[in-house]
Amino acid sequence: MKILANDGLAQNAIDKLREVGHEVSTSNVPQDQLIDHINNENVDVLLVRSATKVREDLIDACPNLKMIGRGGVGMDNIDVEYARNKGVNVFNTPASSSQAVAELVMSHLYSMARGLYDANRQMPVNGLSDFKVLKKKYGKGIELRGKTLGIVGFGRIGQYLAKYALGNGMHVIAYDMYPINVEIPIEINGKVVHHEKVSTGSLEDLLGNADMISLHVPKQSDGSAVIGSTEIDKMKDGVLIVNTARGGSVDETALKSALASGKVAAAALDVFENEPTPDTELLQNDKLSLSPHIGAATVEAQARIGLEIVENILKG
Ligand SMILES: NC(=O)c1ccc[n+]([C@@H]2O[C@H](COP(=O)([O-])OP(=O)(O)OC[C@H]3O[C@@H](n4cnc5c(N)ncnc54)[C@H](O)[C@@H]3O)[C@@H](O)[C@H]2O)c1
Repeated sequence: MKILANDGLAQNAIDKLREVGHEVSTSNVPQDQLIDHINNENVDVLLVRSATKVREDLIDACPNLKMIGRGGVGMDNIDVEYARNKGVNVFNTPASSSQAVAELVMSHLYSMARGLYDANRQMPVNGLSDFKVLKKKYGKGIELRGKTLGIVGFGRIGQYLAKYALGNGMHVIAYDMYPINVEIPIEINGKVVHHEKVSTGSLEDLLGNADMISLHVPKQSDGSAVIGSTEIDKMKDGVLIVNTARGGSVDETALKSALASGKVAAAALDVFENEPTPDTELLQNDKLSLSPHIGAATVEAQARIGLEIVENILKG
């Protein structure tokens, strides 16, 4: 089969697919040329991450496309039901990303707790002239151990994050639209040494008690925010928020005013409403720890995603 990995594919997956006789291209074809490219090159399988959009017009215009694969979790860039109704096999790789996203959340939490993201911006510019001033400014950090992390959306990534947070001495409370009771395995040296029970409770309880809140919900079908100004008003003063879910899962306008008032002390965003051209007011806000949608983009996760893609293609 001819496979176009339009947003890239890990080398281990390319090698495995070629070994079994498939043709793999990793050319990044611009969105407006994609339909012609798929038809002219007789592409059978289109693989994407989050950048390439696979909408109804493309699905209609490329009737020979057999499979659409999403390396990653959220499939909001693909018209999944429409494609499936036309007989196209659509799959994603839900198992491979959780650890990488959980680690990114922990990095943002530690970074915010010590103001590290902002100190990194200031040190190259003012570190020589104003070392003592900066030492005073960033010398008021807090520690994660003993703090309460509220996890909104307690599926695969939320539960993986709980494992990291518990292992780092945090208390974990969770909320999901469905009740979930799980035993979170805590590992030392790769061996599970303890299981910690976590049961989801109410959103109200989470908002009122969490020192830090992280979102792990999918994009809502109506595009609405899960955290907006009403929810932020119910949070503790000085709360920290992390959004690695989807742009707009935390309302960006509500977040900007809560950062300005100090209600939210700092926040971290990996995802943005207007990707790939995020709001510049967010990019320049010194209370935001920022990353460019790299939640699942680790070398290890991409290798796992690659293998999950290969399995899906081989089983057809
Ligand atoms: N930043 C990144 O690069 C990156 C990478 C992977 C996934 N993600 C995002 O993370 C999301 C979660 O991934 P996952 O693997 O944990 O998915 P999952 O399906 O395992 O878990 C999502 C959970 O959210 C719950 N949920 C949905 N809507 C809710 C709502 N309004 N309120 C409360 N709970 C709600 C669901 O019941 C489910 O338990 C993905 O959909 C994707 O948008 C981002």
